[in-house]
Amino acid sequence: MSRRVDAFDRWIRTSFVELNTELENLYFARENRADVQGCGERLKTTLRDEGHIHVVSLLAEGNTGDGFESGFGVLGNVGMYLGALRRHELTNPAREHKSPFTEASSLALHVGASLGMAPRFSTTHLSTRNRAVAGVRKSFTSLPDEFLFIDENTRGILCLQRAADALTRIVHLGVSSPVTDVPFRAARQALLEVMEFNSRLFQQLDVDRFFYSVRPYYKPYRVGRQEYRGANAGDFSGINEIDLLLGLCRANDPYYAQLLVDKMLFMPPADQARLRECMTHTSLLDELLSLLPEHSHADWFQRNAAEYLEVCGLFGRLAAQHHDCLVKRFIEAPAARLQGEDLDAITASGPPLPVLLRSLEILRDLRLAADRDDIGSRHADLARLRGAVSESYVCG
Ligand code: HEM
Repeated sequence: MSRRVDAFDRWIRTSFVELNTELENLYFARENRADVQGCGERLKTTLRDEGHIHVVSLLAEGNTGDGFESGFGVLGNVGMYLGALRRHELTNPAREHKSPFTEASSLALHVGASLGMAPRFSTTHLSTRNRAVAGVRKSFTSLPDEFLFIDENTRGILCLQRAADALTRIVHLGVSSPVTDVPFRAARQALLEVMEFNSRLFQQLDVDRFFYSVRPYYKPYRVGRQEYRGANAGDFSGINEIDLLLGLCRANDPYYAQLLVDKMLFMPPADQARLRECMTHTSLLDELLSLLPEHSHADWFQRNAAEYLEVCGLFGRLAAQHHDCLVKRFIEAPAARLQGEDLDAITASGPPLPVLLRSLEILRDLRLAADRDDIGSRHADLARLRGAVSESYVCG
């Protein structure tokens, strides 16, 4: 790591965190917690100027060819800097045609393009590639609720990646293999663990702290001329690998294909490659349905179809938990109390809240294989498979 890369990283892990935390505490003590104008101006200026010195020095150094890890770290750090400037209203895409932070934009564009990623920080920077130093991972603030959010998100992502790995192994074994019990069990276990982390988040995360002091760092912002949507916990390939391998979502469904294209650059290149490869496989559901007419009475079919249905059911319950518990409690409910300007841009991806909620509902219902004929739900196909599995094989 170059000396300048290292210095910027140290700043992001120290002064940057302290300044943001101080600002959050000032905003949170205000009567209107959503109003960040005219408050902590000296702290905001310090944050902007200290970060600028690092950015200018890195921009002058250029791409040092230090490798992926170094470039990826710089992209995350300059992205977190721009995310914080957005959070403190030192920039706002709604009132600007281009970012007022020219040097930071140039640095982010240069590094992002060289890595093949969007020029902003992404979820991976704060989760699975958030390298801890002496026990402390990167964050915007040192608020306990931010640590809780980052850690439970990361745990969830790690388990979803485990489930995706396990299901990928079934592709190579073939869905009729006598040993699919091992990967199906691994997938089941991983999904149950995600549900446990989600429940913990639901119970322990403070609604107002999350809504007013954590989530605003995930707003969209401009890099150069273009506005980039915020990071969200879905920006890793594992969740979509599970969708596609289970067959609950299909890459040729125009709604879902658009979603995949839109998120591609928000994932690290290794995830992009996994997702592309996953799109070439036939889903487990389609494999089972093609075997059903000839083999539905075979013991292997009954066992493996029952295991498949169990994993599908859990995945649907997990999707419902994300939407009906987490999104409702931590976004929909507090947003309902806000009005006018304060309500603007509270979602990470940018669209107005009702639009975002509708699109998340579609994903939930696809994963639940809900009885809807206005989306590409596999409800009828799953019912056909379920109808072919004898009660005695259904997993407890
Ligand atoms: C306080 C907790 C959480 C809240 C309020 C929340 C809310 C949201 C929202 C609103 C989105 C839409 C993207 C956007 O904001 O524009 C989203 C996306 C997503 N979140 Fe969460 N989330 C939470 C925790 C988690 C956790 C722990 C996971 C598990 C890893 C997770 C997985 C996902 C996924 C996979 C997506 C992408 C859409 C999808 O494929 O379903 N979220 N989340």
